[in-house]
Amino acid sequence: MAQAIRPLALVTGASTGIGRELAKEAANHGYDLLIAADEPEIEAAATELRALGANVDTVQADLSTTEGVDKLLAAVRGRPVEALLANAGRGLGHGFLDQDFNEARQVVDTNITGTIYLIHKVGQEMRARNAGKILITGSIAGFMPGSFQAVYNGTKSFLNSFSFALRDELKDTGITVTCLMPGPTETEFFERGELMDTSVGQAKKDDAGMVARVGFEAMLKGEGDVVSGWKNKIQSAVANVLPAGVTAALHRGMAEPGSGKQ
Ligand SMILES: NC(=O)c1ccc[n+]([C@@H]2O[C@H](COP(=O)([O-])OP(=O)(O)OC[C@H]3O[C@@H](n4cnc5c(N)ncnc54)[C@H](OP(=O)(O)O)[C@@H]3O)[C@@H](O)[C@H]2O)c1
Repeated sequence: MAQAIRPLALVTGASTGIGRELAKEAANHGYDLLIAADEPEIEAAATELRALGANVDTVQADLSTTEGVDKLLAAVRGRPVEALLANAGRGLGHGFLDQDFNEARQVVDTNITGTIYLIHKVGQEMRARNAGKILITGSIAGFMPGSFQAVYNGTKSFLNSFSFALRDELKDTGITVTCLMPGPTETEFFERGELMDTSVGQAKKDDAGMVARVGFEAMLKGEGDVVSGWKNKIQSAVANVLPAGVTAALHRGMAEPGSGKQ
């Protein structure tokens, strides 16, 4: 039977992919969980996590909206959130002018607005206790202009930058902020983002469990950032020294519709 009192981890986007694996890491490290996603699949994730010994509460809410984040915050029920894993996010392929603007806005509202609203609220509660760990899922996509994923890469650039800034602001407190920057990872992300006909959509990708392990360890150690996988470490280091026009052209090769095998 699960123990009554364990530290609480809040994980967003925990129904699939990296978030589900982050939630498993938390359960295996003795945390109870409050997990959230937009669709009913979150209940299947909860069943899996309970089998690992965690007490698990679920929230189904659209975290791109203030109301959705408020619903999640209400489910905290005043408990101290020891670890906040702000992971929910989505991508969107195709040329910017060919995208449905409402879908592009959903990417911004989920990846940026909903994420920082949640961090604002939970961060204030952490500051009152002078304790807490925050893990933000950024991306190595944030290091390069993302031709044919322009809005998505912009949101990840925002999150990478935001994470370092918040970390610095909180450097004299008991709160740590860590940015997990994965490279292409085997999840539902590419299918949902209509990227399956692209070179990156069809490429061999990292295992989501590995990515989550690396990110969770970095969060526990209070590190500032971690790029998962050695190929991604090289790619992000190279992207940092190349002119932005060059990395945009490289990104075109990965994300342009039809760049994958037909
Ligand atoms: N896969 C990669 O190559 C890769 C690389 C770098 C960074 N990342 C980042 O990793 C994070 C997780 O993505 P993933 O690859 O694991 O993709 P995924 O399998 O598609 O998982 C995305 C998760 O976010 C949730 N989500 C998305 N929009 C939401 C919304 N508006 N409200 C509530 N929940 C929402 C999804 O739940 P629902 O299904 O219920 O909407 C799902 O649980 C994202 O921030 C992504 O940008 C991914």
